[in-house]
Amino acid sequence: MEEDRILELRRLLHRYNNLYYVQNAPVVSDFEFDSLMRELQDLESRHPDMFDASSPTQRVGSDLNRSFSQSEHQYPMLSLDNTYNAQEVREFFERVAGLLNEPFEICCELKYDGLSISLIYEDGVLTKAVTRGDGVKGDIVTDNVRTIRCIPLRLDPAGGWPRKFEIRGEVLMPWTSFEKLNAEREELEEPLFANPRNAASGTLKLQNPKEVSRRQLDSYLYYLLGEQLPADGHYENMMEAQKWGFKVSDHMKKCSTFQEVLDYINYWDTERKNLPVATDGIVLKVNSLRQQRNLGFKAKSPRWAIAYKFQAERALTRLDSVSFQVGRTGAVTPVANLEPVQLSGTVVRRATLHNADIIKGLDLHIGDMVYVEKGGEIIPKITEVDMESRGILLGDAVQFAAVCPECGARLVRYPGEAAHYCPNTGSCPPQLKGRIEHFVSRKAMNIDGLGPEIINQFFQAGMIRDIADLYSLSARDIARQEGLGEKSAVSILRSIENSLQVPFERVLFAVGIRFVGETVAKILAKAFKSMDALKKATVEELTQVNEIGDRIAQSIVSFFADEKNCTLVQRLSDIGLKMEIEDSATDGGSDRLAGKTVVISGVFNHHSRDEYKQLIEKHGGKNTGSISAKTSFILAGQNMGPSKLEKARELGVPLMSENEFLELIDEKPTITDEPLLLF
Ligand code: IVH
Repeated sequence: MEEDRILELRRLLHRYNNLYYVQNAPVVSDFEFDSLMRELQDLESRHPDMFDASSPTQRVGSDLNRSFSQSEHQYPMLSLDNTYNAQEVREFFERVAGLLNEPFEICCELKYDGLSISLIYEDGVLTKAVTRGDGVKGDIVTDNVRTIRCIPLRLDPAGGWPRKFEIRGEVLMPWTSFEKLNAEREELEEPLFANPRNAASGTLKLQNPKEVSRRQLDSYLYYLLGEQLPADGHYENMMEAQKWGFKVSDHMKKCSTFQEVLDYINYWDTERKNLPVATDGIVLKVNSLRQQRNLGFKAKSPRWAIAYKFQAERALTRLDSVSFQVGRTGAVTPVANLEPVQLSGTVVRRATLHNADIIKGLDLHIGDMVYVEKGGEIIPKITEVDMESRGILLGDAVQFAAVCPECGARLVRYPGEAAHYCPNTGSCPPQLKGRIEHFVSRKAMNIDGLGPEIINQFFQAGMIRDIADLYSLSARDIARQEGLGEKSAVSILRSIENSLQVPFERVLFAVGIRFVGETVAKILAKAFKSMDALKKATVEELTQVNEIGDRIAQSIVSFFADEKNCTLVQRLSDIGLKMEIEDSATDGGSDRLAGKTVVISGVFNHHSRDEYKQLIEKHGGKNTGSISAKTSFILAGQNMGPSKLEKARELGVPLMSENEFLELIDEKPTITDEPLLLF
């Protein structure tokens, strides 16, 4: 019955939508999703009596975020119809030819796989950056977008750009930044981003532009809108925009025949693998804006453009079993063990299943034939079960482990978290070994000669159970171990001895407090100066420090609330590890101005301008001479020049009085009668 199928499709698509948009964990390929959506659109058009305003066909996915203010798009941000084969592209070509009835050109370009952004420029200045949101209104993410180096904040006055225009494009995370970010997250046992698109989207929604900047996003622009555009051709306009300073792809090409379009598609299907950013298809646009206007729009997409989606490489194989891996923090990851299968040049034996929701969403049973995909992801994943090949003899439904596979403790799931955890931090072997592996790692204590196998060997032999035990290892015990002789023992002990010189910030990173990675450890060490001070810090005090959010603060407080951790830290301190920063670093500095660019202007009561320059740097800030959109604030003394005042007002740069500044860096002003200059 078609009516039943409509209901079933709506249910399925709602679930897939949620997994994709809310949980950032898609379980079906775009291809599968699109074909289900098309089937539903088709059925709904034949059953108008079954109209439902909440059907998945009635909306385009929303990425609205409550913590940002929203702005309505002057021109709605539509999506593109997808095609998956040459025949569908030919149909588009012929449809356009039939509707226009005159010669036309198609501009072929890469379909970048990130998230779309709309940039508004007025008088050559970037005034607003808005996400697509629900297509009608999106989140204002200007501060974050300003950190994207290739996006011009102000255009060259000689450029010849229109007074007001909008330019749209894609925000992307290049593969190299993506891999770096995931490596950091892996170290912290934070959930990895499945692909650069999710990473870019997660990054642009951060409330911390400094972190956004660190993650090095990129952007390509592909659509110019406004009243007085330079030319009638889309291609020509984009080339103009490139001259104005925008990053426009060099791979756009105007084609006049269907064959040329096909050649472009075929060329980029392989060549795209050499690009620094992810692409998932080709976009074909009728080049002339006049012809675009003639063709017009459908409800959610233009008639003058179409996307051709590359087929993600996937393979069909059997699910043999599911195992559960326990990491250093106790997070339990389900892993699918597969019958080995060739996929994009490598043999795939295992695929990640992320978490219990994903397993449930896939309706996975042992023995199922499953599709594995690499697509944009590094770790292969199961995208779909081949229901057709399911026989009557259905294997057992895959259940998430109830107890830890390593120590038998009952697993827990914290509210709001997708992962399951083994709570037995004190004696679950992979957690104990994982913490030691982390402690000795290069960026932590840098103890050579202790790889995971040797740590396992020592652990099995009962020589070490925690990180402090490393310091009571004896040469005799080590040399006695299989494969290790006296020479290795001497070298391992020397390396352990050397670790006593490792500075406090790395010791802090090495002890393995959850969410305290290398960078956070540095910030904390600088702000609190010693382990003792950090131990005493409250959540409020911790979150006062720039870049330390609630999650990190809570984690630190609960670490020190555990008596066992305090004992361990005390043992390390007694052994002689550095528990405070070196004298040279205790110069009264802080990171209160980290990431801030400050302009000094006017005359001051408490310090000279040079002293203020030094103070800014001592507290992690940067002093620059002229006001720009990048200026965080102006340290404003008396008699600030009118042109500077005007410029600050124009760019919306706040002013900070001398007293406010001294308070910010925790230096109490002696005179308090200074007028407030904030606007
Ligand atoms: S043009 C009205 N060009 O694909 C059409 N979009 O499904 C406006 N995209 O939301 C879009 N590369 O985020 C266009 N070269 C390109 C693109 C591109 C990626 C994304 C964009 C859009 C989605 C459409």
